[in-house]
Amino acid sequence: MSSSSSSYPTSFRSHTCGDLRVDHVDESVRLVGWVDTIRDHGGVFFIDLRDRFGSTQVTVQPESAPKAVEVAHTLHAEWVLAVRGTVRARPDGMTNAKMATGEIEVIADELEVLNEAAPPPFGIREAEKVGEDLRLRYRFLDLRNPTTMAPLVFRHRLCMEIRRSLDEQGFVEIETPFLTKSTPEGARDFLIPSRMQRGSYYALPQSPQIFKQILMVSGFDRYFQIVRCFRDEDLRADRQPEFTQLDMEMSFVEEDDVLLVLERLVCRIFENLLSQDLKGPFERITYDDAMNRFGSDAPDLRYGHELVSLRDWAASTSVRFLTDAIGQGGTVMAIRVPGGARYSRKDLTNLEDVAKEFGAGGLLWFKLEGDEIKSPIAKFLDEEQLREVASITGAETGDVVLAVADAKVAKVRKSMGELRKHLARTEGWIPKGRFAVAWVVDFPLMSYDEEDQRYYSEHHPFTSPKIEDLDKLDGDPGAVRARAYDLVVNGHEIGGGSIRIHRQDVQKRIFELLGIGEEEAEQKFGFLLDALRFGAPPHAGIALGMDRLAMVLNERTSLRDVIAFPKTSSGGCPLTGAPSAVDEAQLEALGIRSVPPEPADGKASEGASS
Ligand code: AMO
Repeated sequence: MSSSSSSYPTSFRSHTCGDLRVDHVDESVRLVGWVDTIRDHGGVFFIDLRDRFGSTQVTVQPESAPKAVEVAHTLHAEWVLAVRGTVRARPDGMTNAKMATGEIEVIADELEVLNEAAPPPFGIREAEKVGEDLRLRYRFLDLRNPTTMAPLVFRHRLCMEIRRSLDEQGFVEIETPFLTKSTPEGARDFLIPSRMQRGSYYALPQSPQIFKQILMVSGFDRYFQIVRCFRDEDLRADRQPEFTQLDMEMSFVEEDDVLLVLERLVCRIFENLLSQDLKGPFERITYDDAMNRFGSDAPDLRYGHELVSLRDWAASTSVRFLTDAIGQGGTVMAIRVPGGARYSRKDLTNLEDVAKEFGAGGLLWFKLEGDEIKSPIAKFLDEEQLREVASITGAETGDVVLAVADAKVAKVRKSMGELRKHLARTEGWIPKGRFAVAWVVDFPLMSYDEEDQRYYSEHHPFTSPKIEDLDKLDGDPGAVRARAYDLVVNGHEIGGGSIRIHRQDVQKRIFELLGIGEEEAEQKFGFLLDALRFGAPPHAGIALGMDRLAMVLNERTSLRDVIAFPKTSSGGCPLTGAPSAVDEAQLEALGIRSVPPEPADGKASEGASS
């Protein structure tokens, strides 16, 4: 009996269900798998047997295998079946081009039920029609679906490709602790109470940031780790409370060195996993440019439709709300929608709702209908001013120009950026199968939070300021740019990193500006500061979100599609029921007493006191 290298023969099988081709005709084979479908054609049974590798049609004929027919009568979907039989070419007209094994069938001599299965709560291949909670509750069945399984197999290949590439480039994979101290990524920590040191807590790492910098001080030179990170933050389609990073750090490098290593890695992934010829160097866009042209620091460059500033134009009008916005330091940004003059009032109200959801006070529009330009503010503008909107935005007859004005530039950018994304989806601007990869650079080092009246790091407090901006640290810290870079693919922030501060005096000054006092710095990051005193090399790094990368490369829209056992938006796991209550005795041992849940909403209280 011959078997190809991907047959993975075991004591139960000679081949997998995805393996057999016309080359195998007349061979005796043994297959095992799950009953995908079973059809009774007047006593002849056709069973599609499925495993991870594919499916094969098994034909059971009463004249040649009466016993097997008896077994076939008892079968149901998802039973585990062993088949012994002979490979035969399917008769003319019966081949199935959609199946890899579609040119052959296995004529069964013997069927053996290895295990029965309870009726599944949903058809394995119909999972998309059922609610997500049910799919996650029965994730083991959901994962049996080849389309659910495929992204996870892809993800495995992705990890292998990364490990091979980084090994070749001199990187060493080193594990860092999960039971550790709070790390500086700015989200809330997941805490683990210590039994042996009552009243003390470990924090699960938000990233291995501090450890990887310490490894540079030790001289490892090039570190990486494919590592789980934990952040207790509000969840979205592209955020999970536990997620995986490809975390990297390098010594004696500048921005160009880090970016080059990453470009090599990403190009190799595209070539070997997607057969796409991506070329470095990737486009580099400054943060300011990204915000002005796309209203986002993770711009989707697969399509144009860039935002246009109407600031100077607005300032030249006598429309009060426009001139007021500009007068207060604000701006006006616009986007041209080709063919958008067809929009009804209702369509425009819906678009306005999108803009408002992201902070805009309202949405201004200019429709170019024939020779006329219609707008709610047309009567306040002269003909020339109206024409100017068209000329600045490049709008033509049949188009609409949508604009947001506000005294807060951030609100205009955010709402217009989200509107652009929304229009891209609804207007079909996004080309399929195309990937747009770019770096966003020159981020602000820190931003001022009006509510808390203090500065927060945009990346983390160990990020180096640009040397040429150092003199602004005292007078205008908000204007200082960081030596930070983000990798953006198809509008998703896939990774972020920076050149680190390795000079004590600069680090001290940054802590001061961030309102982190000497005592707090010592208490939180003392061990890193200590290490930095002992000959820290210039170093830099980056972390890529593996879940996001796998999601984007698979052209999926939810992280859950590329995680075997993901959490729901409320942070729960429907399969295991986590998070769940624990025994009083367990709490006792940890010195923890639960605060009873608030009766009003019936939900378990988040707090616990020790
Ligand atoms: P940062 O916080 O930017 O950087 O994280 C790096 C990348 O991790 C991914 N990511 C997430 N993915 C899924 N769910 C989440 N909740 C989540 N949060 C982040 C993103 C992001 O770009 N220590 C630094 C890296 C460095 O400076 O080297 C860090 O963690 O794709």
